[in-house]
Amino acid sequence: MKISLKTQLFAAFFGMIVFFVLLSIILSSTLLEKYYYSKKEDAMQQTFNTIRDAYSDDPDNIMLYVEKIENLRGMGIIFFDQHFNVLYQSRQRAIGLGVRNFRINTKDPVMDWKNIEAKFKKVTVDKPFIEKRFDMRMESSFVSLYGKIDDEVYVYLGTPVAAIQESAKIAVRFYIFTGIFMIIVGGIIIYLLSLRLTKPIVKLNGIAKKMAVLDFEEKYDEKRNDEIGTLGESINSLSNQLECSIGELKAANYKLMQDIEKERQIDEMRKGFISNISHELKTPIALVQGYAEGLKLNVNDDEENKNYYCEVIIDEANKMNNMVRKLLELSELEFNDVVLDREEFCICELIRNLLKKNSLLLAEKGAEVTFDTGGNDSIRINADYYLTEQVLMNYVSNGLNHLEEGGVIAISTRVAGRKVRVEVFNSGENIPEEALENIWLSFYKVDKARTRAYGGTGLGLSIVKAIQKAHGNGYGVKNKPGGVLFWFECDLL
Ligand SMILES: Nc1ncnc2c1ncn2[C@@H]1O[C@H](COP(=O)(O)OP(=O)(O)O)[C@@H](O)[C@H]1O
Ligand SMILES: [Mg+2]
Repeated sequence: MKISLKTQLFAAFFGMIVFFVLLSIILSSTLLEKYYYSKKEDAMQQTFNTIRDAYSDDPDNIMLYVEKIENLRGMGIIFFDQHFNVLYQSRQRAIGLGVRNFRINTKDPVMDWKNIEAKFKKVTVDKPFIEKRFDMRMESSFVSLYGKIDDEVYVYLGTPVAAIQESAKIAVRFYIFTGIFMIIVGGIIIYLLSLRLTKPIVKLNGIAKKMAVLDFEEKYDEKRNDEIGTLGESINSLSNQLECSIGELKAANYKLMQDIEKERQIDEMRKGFISNISHELKTPIALVQGYAEGLKLNVNDDEENKNYYCEVIIDEANKMNNMVRKLLELSELEFNDVVLDREEFCICELIRNLLKKNSLLLAEKGAEVTFDTGGNDSIRINADYYLTEQVLMNYVSNGLNHLEEGGVIAISTRVAGRKVRVEVFNSGENIPEEALENIWLSFYKVDKARTRAYGGTGLGLSIVKAIQKAHGNGYGVKNKPGGVLFWFECDLL
């Protein structure tokens, strides 16, 4: 069973108080009366001494002196001569010696006069005899002193014991009252004290428990100049250090997890990439293999057929070459952090140059190409010239590949805010809505047979995406009535 520190402290101190109070009550009730007696005896001895000295100094005035003592100290006094005739008797009745005429009453059956006389015979001037005795006539106890003042005068002093017993009883009762008072007040004080001592410990315990479950919110905020205060400071600094270290650890762990996730994604991409590449290469390799074997076996002797076989082989090899080139370019863009070779140039100029370079190709397809600058012929931008040209070239060649006979390719530029938006529209079939997102993934093709017919790889738009991301600019596609519109943005100067 757990007993709290507070209870233990309280029990220990409270027990101590009760113990000492009880001890003092017991001691006073048993010893106080004896102590009073001994003090009374001392006082009687002293009174005797002063009476004796006063008598020897001035015997004529002794009576006045004795009366004073009687009144002051509540004592009965009797003087005798050497034959035990009474010389003086105190006015006080209760003196413990039933004397009026000491000599005459020697036959008194109640008093043991022989014994009393014997006691007087024993004493000297310096050494009186003191005793506690019971007076049968008065039915109470007295402390009595039998003394000798000189050879002719003896003195008896008596004081009732009842007074002593009464005083002792009162004192004991007083002790009991004060004891109870001390127990109550002491109990309250000890309770408050133990509360004050244990409260911070309970609080510190709470903080430590929270720390155990990595909660470092709570701190010890009481200011104390003792060991508990020091302990509080230590726990605070421990909590701070732990919080800091665990925070660092968490951050490091988070970073590590991120790195692992990135690594995992790259790995995934690589795997996907490789399986895609091998898949893409299968068809051309099979074709090359088949036609090469055909040539070797001389399947057909005529020149025209041989030429056709060779052309297929060359064509497929070209496709593979083209794909490998694009792949290299894409992996360069995606896996290595591209360093852009930014320069300032006019986007309209770039577009015109590109159209000029490809004029033959465009004419071959019988495409009607338009370019609308929106009246702004000089739009200077900051970008990588070569990569921007790549983006545009991909859009234009895609447009040509999906153009219908005698279709239109319309290029336009539009300045908006800090960007210029270049749009490439081609007339033709819309792209199915569900494919609009996927065309930006590598190797994705909407119509595989058609793509294969124009020698597509499905890598062009992935390259566009990578380039635009490297620039931090947007790109996109929209289906339009009777055609498709691709767009990309560039940073204005
Ligand atoms: N202008 C367009 N009109 C219709 N479909 C297009 C157009 N441009 C691209 N696509 C579709 O997006 C796919 C991916 O394009 P891209 O990545 O450039 O690869 P590729 O041109 O080698 O086929 C194409 O296979 C095609 O299905
Ligand atoms: Mg393409």
